[in-house]
Amino acid sequence: MQTPVSLVVSGEEISSGEQMASADQAQAAGTELLHAEPARVEMPAAADVVASALSPGAGATSEPAPLKTLQELSREAADCRLCTLAETRTSVVFGVGDPQADLVLIGEAPGRDEDLRGEPFVGRAGQLLDRMLQAIGLDRKRVYIMNTIKCRPPNNRDPKPDEVQACNLWFEQQLNMLQPKMICLLGRVAAQTVLETDASLGSLRGRWHDYRGVPTWVTYHPAYLLRSPQQKKKSWQDMLVLSNRLRG
Ligand code: URA
Repeated sequence: MQTPVSLVVSGEEISSGEQMASADQAQAAGTELLHAEPARVEMPAAADVVASALSPGAGATSEPAPLKTLQELSREAADCRLCTLAETRTSVVFGVGDPQADLVLIGEAPGRDEDLRGEPFVGRAGQLLDRMLQAIGLDRKRVYIMNTIKCRPPNNRDPKPDEVQACNLWFEQQLNMLQPKMICLLGRVAAQTVLETDASLGSLRGRWHDYRGVPTWVTYHPAYLLRSPQQKKKSWQDMLVLSNRLRG
């Protein structure tokens, strides 16, 4: 029998009356995502990437690039000054979760709480995201959560194209290391940035996209759901689509 699950954050219910995954199904989806080994991938050091971009040929060498872990990449990113957001940020918010997770969720940019704590999605929207994951038997330790850019834009404005471009250095290396089986883009800005499109969220949602060979789903940003609770039912449907595909 299927057990109804409600998503309630700060007294708000995300949906009800829909067909829900059973606790066992949700748990099964979650346990598949547990891995022991940290990801290691052959990537050039960030400084080398920048150097060769600035001076073509400068990075050319017959030596193989050193193996780098996600943790090492995170340490490099912590000192990043590639764009002006470095002047106003408190922390570089790199990402959180299982480096070998099957599912990577990508938001827009850190907000105030995230900037202060150095972790993505820890404010009110993050609490709702946690509840959404919980409803399909997952939590932030079993997936990987990151943003399109790593530093908070002042007053939470949308990231500027030059900031996205600068941060792409970290974004691409990070995703190459993670090698997820599935990506979920949270909200219009993340969807438009990653899929490089001006299309509306409404037109991007409800079908699979391909991001460099990785099946990619678009859903509402949890902050939007807090403002527009009537859309929570559709977001619940999106979570089920992800859960079903994760369970294969
Ligand atoms: N909104 C985002 O898009 N990302 C965060 O990390 C927090 C809020």
